[in-house]
Amino acid sequence: MDNGPRQMGSPVGARTAINGRDVDYFCGTSYYSLHGHPDVIAAARDALAAYGVGTATAAQTPAHEEAVERTRHFLGVETVTYVASGYLAPLVLLEALAEDCDAVFADSASHFGVRDALRTIGKPVVSFRHLDPDDLAGRLSRECPAGGKPLVVTDGVFPSTGAIAPLSSYVDALRRYSDAILCVDDAHGLGVLGARGRGTVEHHDVGKDGVHVCGTLSKAFGGAGGIVPGDRALSAKIRLRSHVLLGASSPSVPAAAASAAGVRILAEHPEMRQQLWSNARRAKTGLRALGFDLDDTPVPIVSLRGRPSIDLLRVQKTLERHDILVRHSPPRGYSDSPDVETLRIAVFSTHTPEQIDRLVDAIRRAI
Ligand SMILES: Cc1ncc(COP(=O)(O)O)c(C=O)c1O
Repeated sequence: MDNGPRQMGSPVGARTAINGRDVDYFCGTSYYSLHGHPDVIAAARDALAAYGVGTATAAQTPAHEEAVERTRHFLGVETVTYVASGYLAPLVLLEALAEDCDAVFADSASHFGVRDALRTIGKPVVSFRHLDPDDLAGRLSRECPAGGKPLVVTDGVFPSTGAIAPLSSYVDALRRYSDAILCVDDAHGLGVLGARGRGTVEHHDVGKDGVHVCGTLSKAFGGAGGIVPGDRALSAKIRLRSHVLLGASSPSVPAAAASAAGVRILAEHPEMRQQLWSNARRAKTGLRALGFDLDDTPVPIVSLRGRPSIDLLRVQKTLERHDILVRHSPPRGYSDSPDVETLRIAVFSTHTPEQIDRLVDAIRRAI
């Protein structure tokens, strides 16, 4: 396989056709392989036949309504705003809340979508050290007087390292402000973390007034499009203040139908989450035994850091020659990548124990 752009020649899954070869696929974000699930594909195909590709405006079809309704139930919220991409979801949320804050305090490794949203809303932005509640608390005390209205924004689960934001500590740091807001881009936490799959907020048990979430149906849920769950008051603010909602077409019809089917399947099969967590644990346990320092969370993203004795790019290429695909990231190669090279391994609920053990063994032989 060469180093050029990779072509996917089958639906994404634990085995995926890449550049004409079937590989054990440990990349991307389809943590339950729902994008390739036959019922998801059939739902998209049927909706396409019934309603066409898209509405060419902000109008909704029954497929959109079903996606919203099923997501609303899954997340246990009053409303869900559904937009064309997860990248836009933080913008929609922050457009709605900008008037309610004085300044934004952002994790320095927040996702690109959050950073672009912050540029758009034009509020003063203070960056705090990645995952560091003490640094946040210090900056709050210096930059936001008592009675101020700070808004803290962070990813829930960071996309390349899989680190979980310490939300409880952020809530503690915000306790002295009665009008504080915490916004979480939980693109990788929703559907994965928490007893009901409701994400990082459920994982940390911090759901309360002032905590807001946005995310995507494009990853764990097997569909496509961004979501902003919340209560009716938030939904009213979004309708009043969001340019995205006014100016962008609705998600495509097949995306909406696929999303509805994916959310339904995940809701009906909670054992899929257990399987995902157990697979993530199996991979991390195996890799820890090789000397990699890995956290003990159920997040299915495993990040191997380079060491002086290991050339991770060579490891990635060796694995690829054995038809195992993982992602190599150079230092600072993504929004949250550290300043050393990394291998990002995405574990799916559909990987077999044999696939995971083969991956670990191949890495053992390559390092
Ligand atoms: C934290 C985070 N937010 C948002 C997005 C964008 O979501 P989407 O791919 O649905 O546009 C990503 C994509 O990887 C992400 O990692």
